[in-house]
Amino acid sequence: MLYVTADHAGFELKNTLKKWLVSHTTEFIDIAPNLEKGDDYPIRSDELAQYLHDSDNRGIAICGTGQGICIGLNRYSHVRAVSPSTAEITKLTRLHNDANVLCLDGRFMDFETVIEIVTIFLDTKFSDDPRHIRRIGMLSRTGSNQI
Ligand code: RB5
Repeated sequence: MLYVTADHAGFELKNTLKKWLVSHTTEFIDIAPNLEKGDDYPIRSDELAQYLHDSDNRGIAICGTGQGICIGLNRYSHVRAVSPSTAEITKLTRLHNDANVLCLDGRFMDFETVIEIVTIFLDTKFSDDPRHIRRIGMLSRTGSNQI
């Protein structure tokens, strides 16, 4: 399942993206559907991380710059959150890093680029290449936040 979330700075982009996901029959669950006072990005990243223990699940997380929510998510050793700036980098984050969360900036990226990046993120499968599996394993080994 795809889980989407955002803080207040990403709320508008999340709503636009949700309409696009519906029109492209992509199933998703919005885990923060209402604009709430005090919806700081660390709260949103903590919530989303809980949905990602199942390796089939993915996330899209949006804040103003896409960076704070990404930092929060990467505190969890089972999360590989990325904020790629181009389509090619997005593809590589799936092929090489098996990225499970795409972080987007709600205030800077044009919607055409957002859609391009989201489409590639959702459509690209991990390469399953042993060298990438080994490196991803090394990331979990060095993390101190095992949960
Ligand atoms: C909120 O104003 C903003 O700081 C936040 O969304 C994000 O950009 C942080 O990285």
